Amino acid sequence: MSESSPQTPFTTNNVGIPVESDEHSLTVGSDGPILMQDHYLIEKMAQFNRERVPERVVHAKGAGAYGFFEVTNDVSQFTKADLFQPGRRTDMLARFSTVAGELGSPDTWRDPRGFALKFYTEHGNYDMVGNNTPVFFVRDPIKFQDFIHSQKRHPATGLRNNDMQWDFWTLSPETAHQVTWLMGDRGIPKSFRHMNGYSSHTYMWINGAGERFWVKYHFKTDQGIDYLSQADADRMAGSDADHHRRDLYEAIASGDAPTWTLKVQVMPFDDAADYRFNPFDLTKVWPHADYPLIDVGRMTLDRNPDNFFVHIEQAAFEPSNLVPGIGPSPDKMLLGRLFSYPDTHRYRIGPNYTQLPPNRARSQVHSYSKDGPMRYEASDAAMPYAPNSYGGPAADPARFGGPAGWASAGDMVREAYKLHSEDDDWGQAGTQVRQVLDDAQRDRLVSNVAGHLTQGVSRPVLDRALQYWRNIDKNVGDRIAHKVNGG
Ligand code: HEM
Repeated sequence: MSESSPQTPFTTNNVGIPVESDEHSLTVGSDGPILMQDHYLIEKMAQFNRERVPERVVHAKGAGAYGFFEVTNDVSQFTKADLFQPGRRTDMLARFSTVAGELGSPDTWRDPRGFALKFYTEHGNYDMVGNNTPVFFVRDPIKFQDFIHSQKRHPATGLRNNDMQWDFWTLSPETAHQVTWLMGDRGIPKSFRHMNGYSSHTYMWINGAGERFWVKYHFKTDQGIDYLSQADADRMAGSDADHHRRDLYEAIASGDAPTWTLKVQVMPFDDAADYRFNPFDLTKVWPHADYPLIDVGRMTLDRNPDNFFVHIEQAAFEPSNLVPGIGPSPDKMLLGRLFSYPDTHRYRIGPNYTQLPPNRARSQVHSYSKDGPMRYEASDAAMPYAPNSYGGPAADPARFGGPAGWASAGDMVREAYKLHSEDDDWGQAGTQVRQVLDDAQRDRLVSNVAGHLTQGVSRPVLDRALQYWRNIDKNVGDRIAHKVNGG
């Protein structure tokens, strides 16, 4: 029988009542039936049955850590956001993830990686929920669910299915740019520490004078970009499925805190209207020659969470968390995401998820929201309605971040973005393949795509896939076709 010693505390149930035994249920005689009055046994079983929350519908497998963000360059002419003011240091949380796999899936499967950041600013939580790629597969949120279904498991077999993936991609040519990233080295980073993070979306920045700018974020890894070959990743999936989670934890635990340098591209507000392609189209990057990178600051991850479930599994990132000085843009995907995340958090963790440790603001909260399951802190509003005559909080327009908007008018339509002069689906994907990748990277791309296409992709999807690559780049398409046909 185990007993508590002066060093170890004594076991209690959930409300502090000391328990009789950690090891034996209450029975009638040592071989007899278990008794209903063993409320501690019942509490243990019932609590255990409720230990899981649903996994995230996407980005289920991940890892994260706490750290801080320091400003190293003065960008106050572009934004008044307090976390980007000179000299400021802001506590933050980061979570990195794979997208399509489930909670237990291997870290080294080919996939984009999530790059989600939460900054605990003086004006509330600011979340930057990006990826390790600067573009995305689709540009209208109505296609996101279909895209994800094509990447997840087949309804009949319960298996991942390359045919579904290429079927969707080849019927949606706007995916071409992101697919070139995914099938190249960036599709399997060496570790979470060895990848960049991008806002991908364009956001609005607003300065102290109320002037607006369009901005894209680039978090450049100071560990250097590195990748795993397909063969190494496959091996690793069997030998250490949690490789990336382990790597991040162990690096931080050993004092080797990873850092990223934040740079931004800034576009003057009025450039957007007639820029050569639509600057809000999430399948496009802005060439650095047009909008060079400007230094902002550095993010350091130096603290592992002391409990993974509490701090990482319950972390709730939301692109709608935008603080004064930062606003959304007309990117339709971003606007769709502003709804989606708080909605999924209410379902996954419950309506009071903002009171949990990783999600709680470190600044003042004076909200009129009340009650609901698992409410921990009451609102400090004396009366539960606004306006009231009893000193309740009152909105202060001077503290609000605006004007975070833009002029918009027109008939209600279901249409693609209005075309700018150089808008197309293949151009930037082709540039990526021809001008950004070197010969070795291009060889690996060809081999990765051919390998993927020879695992269960049937005609006519296969023919469309080969044409898709020829549309991106004739030479690369021919090389993939040659390999697929056994060359
Ligand atoms: C996670 C929806 C596009 C990055 C999620 C989750 C949902 C979702 C429902 C699960 C959140 C949770 O349970 O905590 C959508 C929709 C999109 C979209 C509807 C498009 C309309 C994107 C894009 C990016 C992105 C374009 C990157 C630029 C992420 C990341 C996570 C995530 C990083 C994981 C956050 C975490 O670590 O907890 N998304 N997503 N998503 N999404 Fe999206």
